[in-house]
Amino acid sequence: MTDQYVVIGNPVAHSQSPRIHAMFAAQTEQDISYEKRLAPVDGFAESVRAFIAEGGKGANITLPFKLEAYELADEVSERARHARAANTLSFSGKQVLADNTDGIGLVRDIELNLDFELKDKRVLLMGAGGAARGVLLPLLEAGPTRLTIANRTVERAIQLAQSAQHQPAAVRTDVSACGFDDLSGQRFELVINATSSSLSDELPPLPDELFAAEALAYDMMYGKGLTSFLAYAEAKNVERLADGLGMLVEQAAESFLIWRGVRPDTQPVMLALRKS
Ligand code: ATR
Repeated sequence: MTDQYVVIGNPVAHSQSPRIHAMFAAQTEQDISYEKRLAPVDGFAESVRAFIAEGGKGANITLPFKLEAYELADEVSERARHARAANTLSFSGKQVLADNTDGIGLVRDIELNLDFELKDKRVLLMGAGGAARGVLLPLLEAGPTRLTIANRTVERAIQLAQSAQHQPAAVRTDVSACGFDDLSGQRFELVINATSSSLSDELPPLPDELFAAEALAYDMMYGKGLTSFLAYAEAKNVERLADGLGMLVEQAAESFLIWRGVRPDTQPVMLALRKS
């Protein structure tokens, strides 16, 4: 019998995940099906239970259900616990196991695809919502010298930085929090936009100088053309620009590995997505 997987979200029509997993399955000769499933905003848990009853093996979870996915799980991974959110569920009988592959997807895209080593780098993480929290622990584990979290609402950045304090991964890294105003005079080798500002074509109020020499500007969003943050970086003569498509494919590959025990090759999948 073909093993069944879904991505559950609301909205979910735009999701690239079925395409990505179909390419992974073909490449690794795995017999799986992978579909989109729209859950009512107030009916996430019911949708998961219904899918389990149909014999489903696993699910990716997208907005706005990542927090609920974490909460309904019987067992959670360390990275899901720190993110307080899950994007990958595996079903074993009626047991639900939750994991979060967003952060490792980001780190793999930066280190392997973009060939940028995080160790000993100064990193600025912009944003302190779910997207930022989801990637914080894997970023710290990669060993940057400094990780500065900047957010419009400074209090949220402070809380996020505090959540990292007890992490063994944070011992090598100077973690701090601030508002965008406090960034002037500082330079970073990597600036990651984890705010949702690009969705509305906006930009956090950034100082004139922000990027160190040969810096990488990374926007976790993706879409047609450059996001407003990447356009800002380009205008500042940053040559290394990356959107979140690589992260999307890498987090999917980690989910596939959890479910199927094989790691697919992400390069051809990324190329195919870029072409379309
Ligand atoms: P997500 O799960 O995508 O992170 P979220 O929890 O609503 O969504 O968080 C959105 C993030 O984008 C927050 O850090 C938010 O800043 P605030 O905490 O101050 O609200 C940030 N954000 C959204 N629009 C922004 C803008 N135009 N400029 C700067 N930051 C913005």
